[in-house]
Amino acid sequence: MFKNLIPAKRVQDYLDKMVFPDAPTNLYDPLQYVLSLAGKRIRPMLALMGAELFDENLTESVLPASAAIEFFHNFTLIHDDIMDKAPIRRGEPSVHIKWNDNVAILSGDVLLIKAYQELAKCPEDKIPSLLRLFNTTSVEVCEGQQYDMDFETRDNVSEVEYVDMIRLKTSVLLGCALKMGAIIANADQESQNLLYDFGVNLGVAFQLQDDILDVYGNPETFGKQIGGDILSNKKTILYSKLRACISSEDLPVLKELLARNLHTEPDKVENMKALYAKYDIYNLVTELKEEFTNVAYQQLEAINVDKSKKKALFGLADALMYREQ
Ligand code: IPE
Ligand code: IPE
Ligand code: MG
Ligand code: MG
Ligand code: MG
Repeated sequence: MFKNLIPAKRVQDYLDKMVFPDAPTNLYDPLQYVLSLAGKRIRPMLALMGAELFDENLTESVLPASAAIEFFHNFTLIHDDIMDKAPIRRGEPSVHIKWNDNVAILSGDVLLIKAYQELAKCPEDKIPSLLRLFNTTSVEVCEGQQYDMDFETRDNVSEVEYVDMIRLKTSVLLGCALKMGAIIANADQESQNLLYDFGVNLGVAFQLQDDILDVYGNPETFGKQIGGDILSNKKTILYSKLRACISSEDLPVLKELLARNLHTEPDKVENMKALYAKYDIYNLVTELKEEFTNVAYQQLEAINVDKSKKKALFGLADALMYREQ
């Protein structure tokens, strides 16, 4: 999707040079596999762009931090696919399907450690602050992921609770990537914070788009199972919006759908989509996504650097909001 952007190429070159040991194959082959698949590399690009906003000559010194973020992200995906029972990732079988759960757990774990090995390669004077931010963010991602799982068995998750959950599981990592770049570039504290907030709001909009694509995406481009969130009773933004406005006549229909617990129920997805259509949920969610995007843009605008330097970030943000992948 962003393959031709210069930051994406720099990140990919750096990742391609990474050599993992040959053995044990069941530990390292899954890493080679997952990293060779077509991820968008958004987070490492954000780290590079976050630095380039303040200093254009820093790419080399930001690459280890950007790889650390991408490794951490891939670790979360490997474990997330076990937890979500997701069969497809980036258009190919998920690690736990191609190998098994145990392999996916341990190869995910080692990838998390690889993230820290990359962090240790960052500019030495920056490591303490990078580490503090990275650790806080990683704990928050776990908290968000646990809320996401806990919400599967609840039927009344509010929009506020939902947004707080995705802020943790998804958005803070985008903010963290940008801020790590800004830290390495010696940006002032106010700019670092604005950039972080830009990333968090963009991240909320990004997860809203992910929830939309999970229902309405094209399986070819999205690279994940369509309807997976509905099958596992995820409390996505589509669900929260529906739950907030559904009539008392339709509520039992919704509850009956949630009670179908088999991951293989064929018409569960179609029936849920019919309810979404009846209450115009797609448009409600699209509006909310645009609200978060606008707040994000205001935060990027408020950063005290030349407008021309922000073009790359605005461009990436735009592309993310209307992505199909
Ligand atoms: C997937 O992230 C997980 C979410 C937070 C929605 P991406 O959509 O960035 O996944 P890749 O890295 O491009 O595969
Ligand atoms: C992503 O949430 C959050 C993390 C991986 C921590 P999802 O479960 O929505 O991500 P996808 O849709 O599987 O990529
Ligand atoms: Mg998940
Ligand atoms: Mg998932
Ligand atoms: Mg998803």
